[in-house]
Amino acid sequence: MTASLPRAAVFAGDEVGRHDTLNSNSASHPTAPADNSFLPGPVLLLGAPGVGKGTQAQLLVTKYGIPQISTGDLLRANKARGTELGLKAQSIMSTGQLVPDAIVNEMVLNRLREKDVERGYILDGYPRTLEQAKFLDETIADPEFLPRLPVIAVSIVASYDQLLQRITGRRICATCKSIYNIYTNPPKVDGICDCEGAPLSQRSDDTEPVFIQRMKTFEEQTAPVIAHYRALGRFEEADGNQDVEAVSAAVEAALFHLRQQATREVGA
Ligand code: AP5
Repeated sequence: MTASLPRAAVFAGDEVGRHDTLNSNSASHPTAPADNSFLPGPVLLLGAPGVGKGTQAQLLVTKYGIPQISTGDLLRANKARGTELGLKAQSIMSTGQLVPDAIVNEMVLNRLREKDVERGYILDGYPRTLEQAKFLDETIADPEFLPRLPVIAVSIVASYDQLLQRITGRRICATCKSIYNIYTNPPKVDGICDCEGAPLSQRSDDTEPVFIQRMKTFEEQTAPVIAHYRALGRFEEADGNQDVEAVSAAVEAALFHLRQQATREVGA
């Protein structure tokens, strides 16, 4: 997947997802890693709907050559193929509720058994409930699963107005999965992908009413997951109110710092 860089975003408002002060665990390391051998290992990208998890995951995939595992993408792929799982998930996703833990956990477990995760991976949109977090923590602790490194987590934080604009303005290429935004990162030709010449589409859950429900779900079920990883350590926040490049620099600096810290702690 590719994500072209957006122009500066135009809205601002109250911060979403800041349950403690940003400074207590914020990504305050301005420079990206200079070490070419650096690999982030297992990474969680956490944050509210539309904060930019997928955009940042795509950039990390390009830079580090480790896969993005997006539970939203996996569910949408099932939906597109018309599988039983996809049909079950479809109606839940269209209302902004969460798909049952058992379904999502099974999907992630199968994905983590694939060979390409051995050097690391970026989990985008998972875990989203404390039950999923518990399942993931136990799975990763099992030596069967590679890489045998502790998970590190970055939560991207942005204002409510930014999130709403990003969600309602998002357009996606069905062919190459490039992510655009009609406000901040439009294609050269309206409605057409720059790379593929294919038509762009809008996700059915990217409307304001469904966004409001997704935010409610996030606050009720996913905010405690962020608190869980914050309490465990190996966690930082990145300021998502900036342009894509600046967010990317903050995320990478946080990952570098967290992985160094985790390596020192476990002697890995
Ligand atoms: P999912 O697909 O995971 O949706 P989400 O978490 O709500 O996140 P989004 O994909 O909407 O946003 P994003 O943070 O990736 O933002 P993006 O980078 O695209 O989940 C959908 C549904 O599936 C859920 O509601 C649920 O039903 C189900 N589901 C998924 N996982 C589940 C789980 N674990 N358990 C149970 N159910 C699950 O960016 C958004 C827009 O902003 C784009 O247009 C982009 O160009 C733009 N943008 C990005 N960064 C910037 C920036 N810095 N400045 C300006 N614009 C930017």
